[in-house]
Amino acid sequence: MSSRRLAVAITTALLLAVGATACESGDSGGPASGGKIALLLPESQTTRYEQHDRPLFEARVKELCADCEIIYSNAQQDQSRQQQQAEAALNNGAQVLVLDPVDGAAAATIVSLAKSKNVPVISYDRLIQNAPVDYYISFDNERVGQLQGETLVNRLKELGKTSGDIVMINGSPTDNNAKLFNKGAHSALDTSGFKTVPTPDFFTPEWKPENAQKFMEGQIAQLGKDGFVGVYAANDGTAGGAISAMRAAGITPVPPTTGQDAELAAIQRIVGGDQYMTVYKAFKPEADRAAELAVALLKGEKPSTDRTVNNGATEVPSFLLEPQSVTRENVKETVVADKLYTIEQICTSAYAAACQAAGLT
Ligand code: BGC
Repeated sequence: MSSRRLAVAITTALLLAVGATACESGDSGGPASGGKIALLLPESQTTRYEQHDRPLFEARVKELCADCEIIYSNAQQDQSRQQQQAEAALNNGAQVLVLDPVDGAAAATIVSLAKSKNVPVISYDRLIQNAPVDYYISFDNERVGQLQGETLVNRLKELGKTSGDIVMINGSPTDNNAKLFNKGAHSALDTSGFKTVPTPDFFTPEWKPENAQKFMEGQIAQLGKDGFVGVYAANDGTAGGAISAMRAAGITPVPPTTGQDAELAAIQRIVGGDQYMTVYKAFKPEADRAAELAVALLKGEKPSTDRTVNNGATEVPSFLLEPQSVTRENVKETVVADKLYTIEQICTSAYAAACQAAGLT
């Protein structure tokens, strides 16, 4: 099923579920009025949170509940700051928490506090572990890693390569998603004839591009400029760091490098040939689902889901969306068709020739 059709199917299922619950409780199912929802996001160096997740979530809540108030905070990669932000939101009367945790294990403390006040918690994008979370909305994150691994291997084979080292740059060690991306990537890479280095796997502290860049510099020094055939980078930020390190070392062309998030800078690198692929996880269905769930919970409803994910403490009712691989060949059919970016935004003067060559202009 295409990601768009899947998203539509999930929306329909969720709306039906919300509607069904509303009928059961004798509620009219009409627009909610009033209430406070806290949205707690983890960082802002990755562009998705401030550019997509936050505005999309706020817009959908406003559509469903014009009088609802959203208490927004961004933890800037600091778990204790996120803890304080959650406490402040609860003290300020938040009735639902939508939490994308900096640290999925440590965030269990926030869930306990919310539960002590009977406030439901939606785990947004990243799973909170070992805590009685009410819902989890995300993508199939193992599939994200698998797409990255498969697309990289296919490209290397296209280039006539069948063996060699792939430098692996994983996400933050405190993010459960990073573990799932890693698992999915290994499922595609371990049987491919290529070998991931180093061992044990490297996880980038705080997902910081500069940490990935420093790590890549070390790998280049160790392996040599042509001592590896590709780079697995878990997201576009870490890909950007790795590519800067390779460029600074004078490696041209940069070997196939993966990413994730469809950041504008990454799409431009893809068009220009510095990055091979990214994974597009449509932000709107994810933010919309979270907003719909939050408003339903405010109304005292408990929408049903068709699957659960075990977080160590409980089977969390979950919605998992389908990610999509983006290379130069399908930029138009994916992020442009979805109106994430216009051709004008991608094809700035620095990318004019590359855009023409890629058939974008
Ligand atoms: C998200 C990615 C993001 C990364 C860094 C992950 O949990 O799923 O989209 O790039 O965190 O913030």
